[in-house]
Amino acid sequence: MNTNTNTQLCCIIGDPVEHSLSPVIHNAAYEAMHANFVYLAFRVTNIQPAIDGIKSLGIRGISVTVPHKVSVIKYMDALDPTAKAIGAVNTIVNNNGKLTGYNTDYSGALAALEEKTTLAGKRVVILGAGGTSRAIAFGLKKKGAQLTILNRTREKAAILAQEVLANYGDLSELTIIQNADILIHTTTTGLAPKQHETLVPKEYLRKDLVVFDIVYNPKETQLLKDAKEVGCKIIYGYKMLLYQAALQFELFTETKPPVSIMEKVLVENLKSKI
Ligand code: ATR
Repeated sequence: MNTNTNTQLCCIIGDPVEHSLSPVIHNAAYEAMHANFVYLAFRVTNIQPAIDGIKSLGIRGISVTVPHKVSVIKYMDALDPTAKAIGAVNTIVNNNGKLTGYNTDYSGALAALEEKTTLAGKRVVILGAGGTSRAIAFGLKKKGAQLTILNRTREKAAILAQEVLANYGDLSELTIIQNADILIHTTTTGLAPKQHETLVPKEYLRKDLVVFDIVYNPKETQLLKDAKEVGCKIIYGYKMLLYQAALQFELFTETKPPVSIMEKVLVENLKSKI
């Protein structure tokens, strides 16, 4: 990596960030495109001084992760309408000190889904009602899907469902999956080291169901293994990570992202993690 006084800095801020794959994905993309950029990870516990630092050092692009996606909003000078509706920012672009907040989780998830299926009019069951579920639910609603949100804590499903005009329930109502076109899993169940866990009994899966698991470590979760065996179309969680990063690359550098190179480095790094 050659840097000079014109090199632009991008970064991820969050806590924890030490396992983030964003630096390897973004730096590989910069290298491939000969973009004079570099990307680092910063563990940030206190968001306000980090924002001051971003402005004073002229950091060009910032990926925002847990726990700052909501608290960062009040420091934005402008908000993309989608990020505003969702109430979460995962991307900041710094234009000469003016910070604009975006949500590429939303567009990344839609891109991953639309690679395999149409969304308008589809019956979609979303498991989980946390931050990721929220971004995906807003996206699907905009695309005209019919949503049902099921969550361990029923009240959280109810709150989100009210905002996106969805049906809701708790995990005792999983049989609904049998009548769905698309199943999206957004909880942490199945994440390594508990990779053999799944919330969904295999008998609820049918081969005409599309199954998207946002867990990407391991790449093939128990839910996706079961879905593959049944003959469902499956969508790997890493695709959402990939497409949201590709959109960030485009916002930060204002050039088209080298998606296949980003995918290759991401998949290689996922393999070495497990
Ligand atoms: P993220 O931003 O990644 O979506 P989050 O906002 O912390 O993370 O949300 C985590 C989601 O996973 C929630 O829907 C949570 O359910 P609760 O609302 O009941 O807490 C769900 N979740 C976490 N652990 C779970 C488990 N063991 N079984 C079922 N759901 C679980």
